[in-house]
Amino acid sequence: MGKVLVSAPLPGPAVERLRAAHEVLVGTDPTGLGREGILSRVGDADALVTLVADRIDEAVLAAAPRLRVVANCGVGVDNLDLDACRRRGIAVTNTPDVLTDATADAAFALLLDACRRVSEGDRAVRAGRFRGWAPTEWLGVRVTGATLGIVGLGRIGRGVAARARGFSMRVLYTQRRRAGADVERALGASWVPLDTLLAESDVVALTCPLNEASRNLLSRERIARLKPGAVVVSVARGACIDEAALAEALREGRVAAAGLDCYTREPAVHSALLACENVVLAPHLGSADRPTREAMAGMCADAVLAVLAGEEPRCRVA
Ligand code: DGY
Repeated sequence: MGKVLVSAPLPGPAVERLRAAHEVLVGTDPTGLGREGILSRVGDADALVTLVADRIDEAVLAAAPRLRVVANCGVGVDNLDLDACRRRGIAVTNTPDVLTDATADAAFALLLDACRRVSEGDRAVRAGRFRGWAPTEWLGVRVTGATLGIVGLGRIGRGVAARARGFSMRVLYTQRRRAGADVERALGASWVPLDTLLAESDVVALTCPLNEASRNLLSRERIARLKPGAVVVSVARGACIDEAALAEALREGRVAAAGLDCYTREPAVHSALLACENVVLAPHLGSADRPTREAMAGMCADAVLAVLAGEEPRCRVA
């Protein structure tokens, strides 16, 4: 029987499945134990289930001499020092595929909301500012037939591209390695360099993972190169965007609207973004539909059970 530390309560039967085979300690805060909470409890753990905000670095690993697996409940692994895990022979797993549709759905929800000003309108209605239908009010960005530029045509980016077809959008994408011709044909997506994508897209959607290449990808300088009146949508990590520069562009109307799911310093949101009416700010809910979250938790349990049974886990990233 091993000892498993789970950062937060998980939906579905995942924790019970772990308890059937191991001693399990589950953090009580739904947002996770965080680095410090894990550091103080990980000493005798054989397995650790982390949330995407739990930073696992060399010091945490050094405090956990028995640790054999870190199962990250999310697809992004930018919170983990993968090299340090590799050096110590600790397996790291994540939860791809099961969250692709939920996250692509959420990206599209942000896209529609930002373009058509739904959340902004909701706030106006609740504040008693709805004065009746007016031909000149609540004019937004047309979605049908618009050009959508996707940064990162991985699983989620492809999901967004597939949904865009239902809105007759022209789909451009950029990423370092061009997708195969079959993928491009199936999605009706054309590869262009980033600069072209920024200049031609009515809506730019960030669906890339956070790594050294994508950090500050939507920099101040690149925001200045967006088509005037463009909309920015992102389900990528907050650090992919210069949030202060985006807020400035939103305030000045150079960017018409934005829809964001993640922030650089979660749960804090940049005060300049909070001050903008024309941005939809979601609370990192991309993967948050019930079946998806239960499937993610189930994958974490599978990974822990596999490694502690001496088997190779699925979805190993280190
Ligand atoms: C992830 O999977 O990386 C998300 O941010 C949480 O769903």
